[in-house]
Amino acid sequence: MENSMIDGFGRDISYLRLSVTDNCNLRCRYCMPEEGICKKRHDEMLTEEELVMAVEAAASLGFTKLRITGGEPLVKKNILSICRRCAAVEGIRELALTTNGILLPDLAEPLRKAGVQRLNISLDTLNPDKYRYMTRRGTLEQAVAGIEIALRTGFERIKLNAVLIGGFNDDEIPELAGLTLKYPLDVRFIELMPMGHDELSKGAYISAREVLRRLPELRPAEQDGGVARLYELPGALGKVGLISPLSEHFCGTCNRLRLTADGKLKPCLHSAAQFPVKGLTRCEMAEQIKAAIAAKPEWHGALSFECRSRETRHMNQIGG
Ligand code: GTP
Ligand code: 5AD
Ligand code: SF4
Repeated sequence: MENSMIDGFGRDISYLRLSVTDNCNLRCRYCMPEEGICKKRHDEMLTEEELVMAVEAAASLGFTKLRITGGEPLVKKNILSICRRCAAVEGIRELALTTNGILLPDLAEPLRKAGVQRLNISLDTLNPDKYRYMTRRGTLEQAVAGIEIALRTGFERIKLNAVLIGGFNDDEIPELAGLTLKYPLDVRFIELMPMGHDELSKGAYISAREVLRRLPELRPAEQDGGVARLYELPGALGKVGLISPLSEHFCGTCNRLRLTADGKLKPCLHSAAQFPVKGLTRCEMAEQIKAAIAAKPEWHGALSFECRSRETRHMNQIGG
């Protein structure tokens, strides 16, 4: 067993983001078109066996952290079995999952039992009409019910993700951050990334710095090594995080590799380069993982609404 994978820029790559499906029960405007995406054939997608094999291959190379993503991972019928098997892979010490929360009322408890330690849950607004508008499908009530159940289920940590969208939720920054005063969770504000064909206009981007301007009482907090810069409100139970891929990218400390549900390893979220693993043996998969790590770029290049992501697929096809 090799115990670490250092890339060409000295970064220790130990975090795999595994997208288990590109389906989703919502249609967030910054992520997916209304009509959904052209469905791939079933036989083009990784099987449960292959997903687990890819995790074993990564763990054999020294990966220790696994995050299950989508689309929406909880719409996948065999999600509990996938989580249980991934949690049991030798070397995987941290199993986390990113979800929109809609299906958590039924799944929070079984996921925790299956070995999921941490949850990141998307929540961009606390206004029911705005929630409906942005997700096109879901209700705020469902998402909040999911978060409440998750809080009662004993996960080690819960983080809420709010994508900053000017003119949509910037007026809610204090209210969203204020959730950390009431609940033991983190709230992270994410700069909107100009992906594929997202329909939000240029004017929608606002910098994470805006959060500091609106909340002068935020104080720097102890960092956790993730992509967010962490702050806290006085007396809060959780932290406020700023994720700023556009205004201050974090490529210098990037420790991630992505695997899409159709079996493509991606060295970088914003590059179109990919390394297929569908149909390979575990050893061959490990070789592809090494090749993808060797191809990791130093950074993703300038990102703005004029200079969009080189990844032309939608976010739901990559897992964020
Ligand atoms: P933890 O640090 O483990 O809690 O999770 P995370 O922040 O890595 O995962 P999450 O799925 O919650 O992602 C939060 C946001 O960060 C999403 O908008 C992702 O698209 C974004 N993100 C995660 N990794 C990267 C990355 O390597 N590059 C860029 N530009 N954005 C990323
Ligand atoms: N820019 C920033 N974050 C995005 N997400 C989805 N699309 C985008 C985008 N264009 C976020 C979701 C989810 C996480 C996995 O990625 O809100 O919380
Ligand atoms: Fe679904 Fe998440 Fe994309 Fe929203 S951001 S459409 S919840 S995958």
